Amino acid sequence: MIQFHRVSLEYPVTRTLALEDVNLHIKKGEFVYLTGHSGAGKSSFLGLLIKSLKPTKGQVYVAGDPLAKFKAGRIAQHRRRIGMVFQDHQLLDHLSVFENITFALRITGAPAREWEERTMHVMRMVGLEFKRNSFPIQLSQGERQRVAIARAIVTNPVLLLADEPTGNLDPDVSWEIMALLDEINLKGTTVLVATHSREIVDRQRRRTITLRKGKLVRDDPNGGYAI
Ligand SMILES: Nc1ncnc2c1ncn2[C@@H]1O[C@H](COP(=O)(O)OP(=O)(O)OP(=O)(O)O)[C@@H](O)[C@H]1O
Ligand SMILES: [Mg+2]
Repeated sequence: MIQFHRVSLEYPVTRTLALEDVNLHIKKGEFVYLTGHSGAGKSSFLGLLIKSLKPTKGQVYVAGDPLAKFKAGRIAQHRRRIGMVFQDHQLLDHLSVFENITFALRITGAPAREWEERTMHVMRMVGLEFKRNSFPIQLSQGERQRVAIARAIVTNPVLLLADEPTGNLDPDVSWEIMALLDEINLKGTTVLVATHSREIVDRQRRRTITLRKGKLVRDDPNGGYAI
């Protein structure tokens, strides 16, 4: 599903080497944690996968496609098959919970007759069906994070990327969110989660990839957080 072949990323201007010679293969259906200190390159890694960033060296493949070959139209199509949960969740403040989720279906071109049912389905999955008419400002942090997850999965993506989905949440809510990501993975979606949370990674015992200063320093099939 994901392949990195000798990937390096240097940001222009500052010339920061955010990723250095990364080689990696993630198979379809896997659940993988991406860990590392602040500044290690986790968000840059995810940015390459949605092609908001381009590698300065090497090749990134998603579902066998070399992303470097994609032109603008194809990039939009590529992003439609990926669900992305951003650290700051990026909900639209002027839209209700229901509308925020439906928005993803609208922009991916899902048939309008399906919107209501699919939106209700994911709202039930994340336990927010009673908040359908609330606006983001009326929700707790954990509820907002759950709306962001619902929005990312409503399109049935083949790949779900989550950047610190439990950042700033209390442990109970973090576990609920991780259980939700597990459930999505069990339905066949490949899931990649960037996280600082040592407890979560240690307890889940999943494949864990560790970056240190842009280098892939550890790839442990049974998890465990180590820097
Ligand atoms: N737009 C940018 N321009 C220049 N350098 C950047 C930019 N974005 C990130 N960097 C640098 O690239 C490196 C990797 O940053 P990145 O955001 O990928 O780290 P991260 O592992 O996600 O960190 P955090 O855990 O704090 O979110 C850091 O040294 C950072 O300062
Ligand atoms: Mg980050």
